[in-house]
Amino acid sequence: MNTSNISKLEKNSDSKIILIQGAMDIEVQYIIDLLKDKKLIQIAEYEFYEGTIDNIKIVVSKTLVGTINATIATSIGIEKFNPDIVINQGIAGAHKEDLHVGDIVIGEKCCNINSFKMPIKSKGEGSNPFEWELNKRAKDIQQANLKLVDLVEKSLISNTKNKIYRGILGSGDVFNREYDRISWINNTFNNLSEDMESIGTYSVCNKFKVPCIGIRIISNNELLLEDFDKEQAIELQQTLINILNQL
Ligand code: 5AD
Repeated sequence: MNTSNISKLEKNSDSKIILIQGAMDIEVQYIIDLLKDKKLIQIAEYEFYEGTIDNIKIVVSKTLVGTINATIATSIGIEKFNPDIVINQGIAGAHKEDLHVGDIVIGEKCCNINSFKMPIKSKGEGSNPFEWELNKRAKDIQQANLKLVDLVEKSLISNTKNKIYRGILGSGDVFNREYDRISWINNTFNNLSEDMESIGTYSVCNKFKVPCIGIRIISNNELLLEDFDKEQAIELQQTLINILNQL
């Protein structure tokens, strides 16, 4: 962590700008509806809603789905709004059997779980994803701001009944639904969950040296065949707005 990160985090909560990202309408609308003095700024397809909640300056960014969109939206968000903190939040699939719909995962780290080089196979030899090897990007584990992780973990534990886990977010543009594939990914990366945006956010924030954190609520567990419940996105926003003044 460099000194610019320390000073950004140590500002008073009423002088900080918090950029809160979500990919889909359902992941941002609850917070957008709470913004006071709301102003929409749209750049290309990316919507940013500037406003305040309890005098805290917030920019809500609808990143759209996928790592490329998250990367673009984060780059624009940092350049345009100069946030002190970036929070990437939303729903995610569980990659462990003891995680259930409604549990919350705090991403101390984030891995690109879809970045491989595969051994050569000739015509007719098929495809075996279990043989694929991690490339440079997959090995380049991204870090959240640890001070922010500690603060969020402490605040969430005292503000919600949901189970809170702290660990590694897996992220990439594949919605994995095969038990054995998910197990392989989990054995390889030791990730708790999978989503399609956080790696974009972490990568950009780390390059620009802006403190970031990913917070995900489990919407499905394909290992246990727990159904996809995207409404969990609303529950997470309700929880997060209660801890903003503690960041
Ligand atoms: N795999 C990948 N992305 C998931 N999401 C929720 N569950 C999963 C999952 N199992 C999130 C992504 C994306 C949308 C499909 O929901 O981040 O925005």
